[in-house]
Amino acid sequence: MTELTELVIEGGNTLTGEIEIGGAKNSVVALMPAAILGNKVLIEKVPNISDVTNLKLILNYLGVKVTEENDNFLLDMSNIENKPFEEAQVSKLRASYYFMGAFLARFGKCEIYHPGGCVIGERPIDIHLNGFRKLGADIIEEDNKYTIIADKLEGANITLKFPSVGGTINIMIAATTAEGITVINNVAMEPEIDNVIELLNSMGAKIKREDHSIIIEGTKELHEGRVRVIPDRIEAGTYIIAGVLAGEKLKINNVNANHLTALMDILKEIGADIEIHDNYVIASKTEKLLPISVVAEPYPGFPTDLQQPLTTLLTTASGTSYITETIYENRFKNVEYLNQMGADIKQINDKQIMIQGPTNLTGSKVVSTDLRAGACLVIAGLIGNGITRISSIEHIIRGYEHLTDKLTKINANIKIV
Ligand code: UD1
Repeated sequence: MTELTELVIEGGNTLTGEIEIGGAKNSVVALMPAAILGNKVLIEKVPNISDVTNLKLILNYLGVKVTEENDNFLLDMSNIENKPFEEAQVSKLRASYYFMGAFLARFGKCEIYHPGGCVIGERPIDIHLNGFRKLGADIIEEDNKYTIIADKLEGANITLKFPSVGGTINIMIAATTAEGITVINNVAMEPEIDNVIELLNSMGAKIKREDHSIIIEGTKELHEGRVRVIPDRIEAGTYIIAGVLAGEKLKINNVNANHLTALMDILKEIGADIEIHDNYVIASKTEKLLPISVVAEPYPGFPTDLQQPLTTLLTTASGTSYITETIYENRFKNVEYLNQMGADIKQINDKQIMIQGPTNLTGSKVVSTDLRAGACLVIAGLIGNGITRISSIEHIIRGYEHLTDKLTKINANIKIV
């Protein structure tokens, strides 16, 4: 993708019809590396996002044969090789760190670089590395490179200092083949983690979740497995918010509303017109929305990944709203651009913004600084007066499949130029 590519949106259209949510980005990016513990793995409902394309390239490099049939991927590990990773491969996405756990479990060794991903804070991986050490791995850190070696992985009792999503999954994958029992405490509760447990157990692993702990009985006998990627709750939440801003009975299909209770509770509280059903949600434009204070925190709290899209919605609420971010240090880069479009948002400190509404947004030339900031600006463009041009859209296509096709189908005026 060249830097000159832009998303161009003409705002003001009513969004109507049906939109289908894809498989969860944050699940599939862990499922693909976790699959290498087995010999043949079928992953169903794989989203068409660039993170998946990049993981596929890495798997091919390792000798894994990936056969695609629509959105089903069959991974064949018969010829997999233990090779050092190249920096350019892993710097393309955050989730490349899952190869650390997967390589440790399969080969007892991994040579890899620090992962890429959105620049929204420091994002260290000390929790992952400390977990590997507890399982018996030695780690050499040189500049940006990690050499992780374990002659033998042994079950351990590991308490995470913070319920990190990536840390939980990575340590769990590594512990799958460790000798004996591993107990990981203070784990993250995100549903994507249970999706990974489902895959590993289908391959013969013995993993169970008990509230805030995950217990793994190590086994070397992993075989074939299959899993269906859960619906992407962040993609769903983004389109539900778009529906509340500009929809007329917009039907969002393939939604697991149980994974979105924090968002649904907030939408109900501010008076949004939403109908929640078993597998779908209907959202319509709501004339008068109430302001609210929202804290982005670990699941089942309000997800940090929807904090920026929600900000766009709250610019239309009547009164003063607050958003507090507790996960990342630098996740308000969208504010500058929303203000440029006519919003009235003040950053109170590193962790909190104040949104004064209602304000009308006007189309502008803006930058997608990271994935979810991009989603926030797309929604802003959909309701903004006139034309919005968004650059650096490579961030957005890392996480939203068929973005322009899906939005065009529900009557948005959006194109990539
Ligand atoms: C995952 C999601 C991301 C989401 C985030 C929080 C994927 C691929 N990405 O990211 O979309 O925003 O969860 O819901 O699933 N931390 C440490 N040390 C570590 C690991 C994390 O200090 O070793 C800190 C991070 O800097 C951050 C916080 O913990 O401040 C949360 O990070 P974590 O839950 O690990 O997020 P990711 O797994 O990177």
